Amino acid sequence: MRFAELRLPVALLLAAVLPLPALAGAEDVRRDITSRMAAQFPGLSPADLAGGSAAFDAGRRAEAERNAPGPGAAEAIEAGQRIWKRKFANGRSLAGCFPNGGRRIAAAYPHYDRRVKRLVTLETAVNQCLKTHGEPLLDAGDPDTMGAVLAYLRTLSQGRKIAISVSSPQAEARFEEGRRLYFTRMGQRNYACASCHLNHAGRFFGDTAIPAPVGSAAQWPHLREGRPMTLQMRVRECLERMGAAAFPAGSDDLAHLDYFLSYLSNGIEIRPNAWRAPLAPGHW
Ligand code: HEC
Repeated sequence: MRFAELRLPVALLLAAVLPLPALAGAEDVRRDITSRMAAQFPGLSPADLAGGSAAFDAGRRAEAERNAPGPGAAEAIEAGQRIWKRKFANGRSLAGCFPNGGRRIAAAYPHYDRRVKRLVTLETAVNQCLKTHGEPLLDAGDPDTMGAVLAYLRTLSQGRKIAISVSSPQAEARFEEGRRLYFTRMGQRNYACASCHLNHAGRFFGDTAIPAPVGSAAQWPHLREGRPMTLQMRVRECLERMGAAAFPAGSDDLAHLDYFLSYLSNGIEIRPNAWRAPLAPGHW
């Protein structure tokens, strides 16, 4: 990206990230960030903020509305459904691994699983099922397979309110790890996620308004140029643009960020397969 084009001075971004004080727990952090956004953008509800860049940019909003559902959504959902229902060598299927064939489950992911002592994202749950049945795993970074499956699976929870639980010390520790990563400066440009998304939400960076952290887990996968991009794929893109080595697809680091961001979207309806602008050079 060309820094000369930034409408937001880099020096501003590099100013203090304003880390939140050490707070008691996930719900305090969520309330603090949500009330900061409400004070800054009194005209925008959390559901409006879920529109990403479009929440602050009338041109983008009009384009998103014209392109709803995202072009390519129907094909992605159908491709995902095929993978979901495909019979494994042993006659089982992904659909058979989840209650109600996966209906109405997405709003509670990621969650902390006490048995395996790890966060379970939708991606890890899908791959755990494949592993149990001796099938090859899906690449969590691939829009055409994992992206399509999640486009379908999240459609089965369309309209449900995100309801992530952080209800044990172990779950709190995972949330805190996600929060810590979000506030940590990384990469050649020395940005933290929070430098942009918290401190400068709504400001233009190049030609793109910076989305707020609240709501950013509601509309994924995003349809970009017809391909379904998951939340984790988007986070990897931001990391690459920060000049940081992107955490590997399916890694614990991405799961922690996913848990943190999803918790900040609690109470907002899942509206998957929303349009997002194409990724152009010099454009986030
Ligand atoms: C230099 C500023 C900057 C930094 C640093 C940054 N992002 Fe972004 N991010 C953006 C911009 C701008 C977009 C909007 C891209 C678009 O819609 O075209 C975006 C988009 C996103 C989205 C999608 C929001 C939506 O609904 O469209 C998520 C999620 C996200 N970023 C998370 C992160 C995380 C997590 C980090 C840290 C690992 C991070 N970002 C670091 C600027 C940044």
